[in-house]
Amino acid sequence: MKPRVFVTRKVYPQAVAILQEDFIVDYRDTYEVADPDTLKRKLLLADGIVCQLTDSITAELLALAPKLKVVSQVAVGYDNIDVDAATARGIVVTNTPGVLTESTADLTLALILSVARRVPEAERYLRCGSWKRWDIDLLAGIDLNGKTLGIVGMGRIGQAVARRAQGFSMRILYSAPTPLPPALGDELRAQHVPLRMLLQQSDFVTLHVPYRESTHHLIGVDELAVMKRGAFLINTSRGSIVHEAALVAALEEKMLSGAGLDVFEHEPKVHQGLLALDNVVLLPHIGSATIATRTRMCTLAAENCAAVLKGERPKNPVNPGVLR
Ligand code: GLV
Repeated sequence: MKPRVFVTRKVYPQAVAILQEDFIVDYRDTYEVADPDTLKRKLLLADGIVCQLTDSITAELLALAPKLKVVSQVAVGYDNIDVDAATARGIVVTNTPGVLTESTADLTLALILSVARRVPEAERYLRCGSWKRWDIDLLAGIDLNGKTLGIVGMGRIGQAVARRAQGFSMRILYSAPTPLPPALGDELRAQHVPLRMLLQQSDFVTLHVPYRESTHHLIGVDELAVMKRGAFLINTSRGSIVHEAALVAALEEKMLSGAGLDVFEHEPKVHQGLLALDNVVLLPHIGSATIATRTRMCTLAAENCAAVLKGERPKNPVNPGVLR
C-alpha cells in the first residue's frame, strides 16, 4: 500500500504532481483553511502532511496521527508547528528556506522605499482627485542615500537585504546573536552592534528573525522608546515579533515617522489603529509572493515530504535529530 499524503490547502499543481508519482495524495484543492476537526480526521490516515503557515499543527493533533512521519511546511517560518511535540514522536518537520530569500528581501526594500517616498500615500492622493498642481513640498519624503539601516537578524534574508541596501548607499548596522565571519561582514559593509545601539542609531529598522518564545515582542514598548525619533520600522518576518499596540501608540505619538508591515500579530486581522494611520504601508503577508518563488516553495515542500516517506534524507529538516 502506497503511503498517503495529506495536502491541507491549495498549492501550485507541480507539487501535487511530484507527490502523485509515489503516493496516494489527499489534496484539499481549496483556499479555505481546514478546521481542527478536518485536520484531525485527515491526519488519522496520513503518513505525511504538506501544510502552510495558516495550519496549526499542535501537540494534540500530532498525538492523534498514528502513522505520521513527516510534517512538511510550505514556508521558511514554522512557528505554527509544535516541533518539540513532533520530535518527541519521531516525526520529521521540514521547511523551505533559501528559495524565498531574494523575493522576501525585494519586498523588504519595496516597503523601505514605499515609506521613505510615501508611494502608496501619493497614489491614494492622485486617485482620489486631490492632485491639483505641482507643489514644491508635495508629498516630500526622505532619501535612503546616507541613511542608516538597522537589520535585526542577519541570516539569509537579512544578508540579502544588506546587499540591496548597499546599492542605495546606506550605512548598515546589524544585530545578531553571533557576528558574521569578518570577511562576510566586510563584504556586506555591515557593522555588528547590540540591539539597543542599532535602535538608537538607525533611520530604518528591519526585522529578520524567526518567531519563537525568545523573539515574542522583541520590539516592545522599551525598544520603540529608544528608537531614533522619526525612524521607520519595517517587518517582513512575523507579526508577533512587534508589540503591535505599542507600535500604534509610538506612531500616533509621532515617535516614529512610519512603518512598513507585511505581517501582523493576528493575521488576517489588522490593528484598527494601523488602518487609521496614513504613514504606514500595510501588505497582506506577501513577502515571498512571486509566482516563481511560491511555485518553488511548493515543489520543495513536496520533495521534502517525498524524501522522508521514501526513507531518504530531506533537504530541509528542522529537527534533524529525528533522522537516523
Ligand atoms: C513566510 O512567511 C514564510 O515563513 O515563508
